[in-house]
Amino acid sequence: MSLRNILLTGLVAAGAYGQSRPYNGYQEKQFSQNFYDSYNPIKHMGGIGPYSDRVGYGIDPNPPASCAVDQVIMVMRHGERYPDGTTAAKNQAALSKVYASKITTWAGDLAFLNDWTYYNPNQGLLDQETFSGPYSGLLDAFKRGSEYGYKYGHLWGGQSTVPIFAGGYERVVETARYFGMGFFGYNYSTSAAINIISENYTQGANSLTPTCLADTGLLACFYTVRTLPQFAVAAARLNAQNPGLNLNSTDIPSLMAVGTFELQTRPYSPWINAFTLDEWVAFGYIQDLSYYYCSGPGDPYQIAVGQVFANASLALMEAGPSHLPMSWNFAHDAYITPIVAALGLDRPSTPLPNNSVPFPNPYNSADIVPMGGHLVLERLSCNATASSAAGTYVRAVINEAVVPWPTCQSGPGFSCPFANFTTIVNNIPNFVSTCGVAKAGYPQYLDFWWKYNTTQTLNYQNGSIGYDETYTLSK
Ligand SMILES: *[C@@H]1O[C@H](CO)[C@@H](O)[C@H](O)[C@H]1NC(C)=O
Ligand SMILES: *[C@@H]1O[C@H](CO)[C@@H](O)[C@H](O)[C@H]1NC(C)=O
Ligand SMILES: *[C@@H]1O[C@H](CO)[C@@H](O)[C@H](O)[C@H]1NC(C)=O
Ligand SMILES: *[C@@H]1O[C@H](CO)[C@@H](O)[C@H](O)[C@H]1NC(C)=O
Ligand SMILES: *[C@@H]1O[C@H](CO)[C@@H](O)[C@H](O)[C@H]1NC(C)=O
Ligand SMILES: *[C@@H]1O[C@H](CO)[C@@H](O)[C@H](O)[C@H]1NC(C)=O
Ligand SMILES: *[C@@H]1O[C@H](CO)[C@@H](O)[C@H](O)[C@H]1NC(C)=O
Ligand SMILES: *[C@@H]1O[C@H](CO)[C@@H](O)[C@H](O)[C@H]1NC(C)=O
Ligand SMILES: *[C@@H]1O[C@H](CO)[C@@H](O)[C@H](O)[C@H]1NC(C)=O
Repeated sequence: MSLRNILLTGLVAAGAYGQSRPYNGYQEKQFSQNFYDSYNPIKHMGGIGPYSDRVGYGIDPNPPASCAVDQVIMVMRHGERYPDGTTAAKNQAALSKVYASKITTWAGDLAFLNDWTYYNPNQGLLDQETFSGPYSGLLDAFKRGSEYGYKYGHLWGGQSTVPIFAGGYERVVETARYFGMGFFGYNYSTSAAINIISENYTQGANSLTPTCLADTGLLACFYTVRTLPQFAVAAARLNAQNPGLNLNSTDIPSLMAVGTFELQTRPYSPWINAFTLDEWVAFGYIQDLSYYYCSGPGDPYQIAVGQVFANASLALMEAGPSHLPMSWNFAHDAYITPIVAALGLDRPSTPLPNNSVPFPNPYNSADIVPMGGHLVLERLSCNATASSAAGTYVRAVINEAVVPWPTCQSGPGFSCPFANFTTIVNNIPNFVSTCGVAKAGYPQYLDFWWKYNTTQTLNYQNGSIGYDETYTLSK
């Protein structure tokens, strides 16, 4: 017997090895009484921080005891990424202002600048997924795929080709591919079929990124600059610590964003610690306002945008697993918040205030669409219990937390009976009529879950991803 085996045998005999270890009620609690995650700046980075699971309501994400998931529909945002050109230009302008002060020895909260270097040596990577460090976007996608392969793999009989749907944007497509590699492992090259759905507005409703032509104020809404007093406080503090520095309140969120993006390529960003929790809360809230008013519950046109996916999900659940047991979809943040709003989830009872920061915040975008954020709809097939009938139920899982419908949770594990889910979806304002799609002559419903490609021609990136070293920043 080898030394290793002797050691293992000894451990097993002592009841100290793996599964065979008995529950020791004297030394251990069955459930921890501690929740140490209350302080975490990642929860206050809005949509531009790394992924984090949503803080849930204590509902087991495994199916309730009487139920099994028989169909799953997911829409996931691309993973962690480099900033887009506009954001990068703002961030780099703020950094240039810092360095233009000609300070030679940094002090206080900015002391780290004495040896810090910028995280992105190459503008050609702007807009793309990140691939280094523990918060890497490609890693996030692969890991999600592996975890879901374990969680939902039973839905794949192994017999047919499984489509994976991605909006036609490079980082979205890469996220879908890495998810697929994680989910299918060695079977990816033969059993998955990447389908790329154009993000062009001419797709009408047949899209993962539907455009509401009638929502003419949308772009202006997104770029409404809202500022909060916390940023002036931060600027004053950093300037006082470093005489000669002349930051103002608009520079601060740009510098904070340097930190959130640095964290997507490196394990650690000293910028995060340079700001206080109040400042991070304000930083996150500015984004919450944009999501709420420009692509969420505060914009009726965008609720209609969310109707497309909600209605298609209902139709797919009606068709059932025999048509398509799994529907994996990849898009962007601003197309997921409308779906959540349309489904009647995360809808604060009063509109968000523009000039103050409610805390706790009823609409935290970091809980809905961080990088890699995802909404999963599970169709549950349940046996009868003492309190619920046998039948079909639906659950929503957002970033791994079960989020019950406020008005529909009578099923097992706070799920919603299918008939009631049908009512919820059928009452969402209609995209085609609200957004003027029929008049424009574009497709009027989502079709690609029924008519998809089963070839592998798009499964792998071949050649350049559009990486452009000569990329110049727009101001
Ligand atoms: C429901 O009941 C059937 C028949 O007893 C059983 O085969 C099945 O495993 C049950 N499903 C669940 C999720 O418990
Ligand atoms: C999945 O991969 C395994 C190992 O290569 C293979 O035996 C199996 O046939 C594959 N399944 C399908 C459906 O291609
Ligand atoms: C389906 O395949 C055809 C032929 O390869 C291609 O032109 C088309 O873009 C594909 N559609 C999708 C949704 O991937
Ligand atoms: C969208 O499609 C229209 C019509 O085919 C085309 O003219 C336009 O260039 C496309 N837009 C983009 C961004 O590809
Ligand atoms: C802060 O300074 C920048 C130039 O460095 C300027 O564009 C911006 O308007 C200033 N913001 C405020 C609030 O003064
Ligand atoms: C809902 O989706 C189904 C299936 O795609 C489609 O036939 C129907 O027209 C859609 N209804 C609405 C109101 O969007
Ligand atoms: C907040 O500002 C938006 C415009 O960006 C506006 O539509 C909304 O009514 C304002 N909300 C409140 C509560 O003032
Ligand atoms: C759920 O649907 C049933 C009939 O299918 C109805 O009686 C009940 O009122 C509905 N409940 C809710 C909360 O919509
Ligand atoms: C990659 O693309 C090149 C030309 O664009 C082609 O010759 C080559 O066969 C492709 N390789 C794969 C693996 O598809």
